[in-house]
Amino acid sequence: MEETLVLIKPDGVLNKKVGKIINRFEDKGLKIKGMKMVWIDEEMARKHYNHLQEKVFFDRLLKYITEAPVIAMVICGKEAIEVVRTMAGETNPLDALPGTIRGDFALDIEDGNMIHTSDSKENAEREKELFFLKDEIFNY
Ligand code: CMP
Repeated sequence: MEETLVLIKPDGVLNKKVGKIINRFEDKGLKIKGMKMVWIDEEMARKHYNHLQEKVFFDRLLKYITEAPVIAMVICGKEAIEVVRTMAGETNPLDALPGTIRGDFALDIEDGNMIHTSDSKENAEREKELFFLKDEIFNY
């Protein structure tokens, strides 16, 4: 089964949406194979988002993702990468449809967009290794 890395970002933790977001993944039938609360430091943030370092919003992104802890999860299921991306909705909450996580729980990208989800198999592997050791992953 395919695996993806999900982060419930600082705005999700600070706005107490953690339980609601996890519920959606479990209700969908996806399995949580790993989960932990992590306070990302600048070094880790630069690694996680290194493909975005040329973007104008990069400094803001570093500040946002390090302002409070995130919930990191390895989520598994059939076509998990695409399924979780669809459940998350468009990156900009203004474009995210109702029924999606960003559509329901976020409004302005300046205030955050609630979750991060891996956008490819390659990035899922890289991001899982950044957040989890092999023996922290549960095999059902
Ligand atoms: P994420 O799915 O984690 O992937 C890259 C992140 O960059 C994205 O979610 C947002 O948090 C952030 N991001 C993307 N576009 C913008 C933008 N225009 N302004 C601020 N942050 C952005």
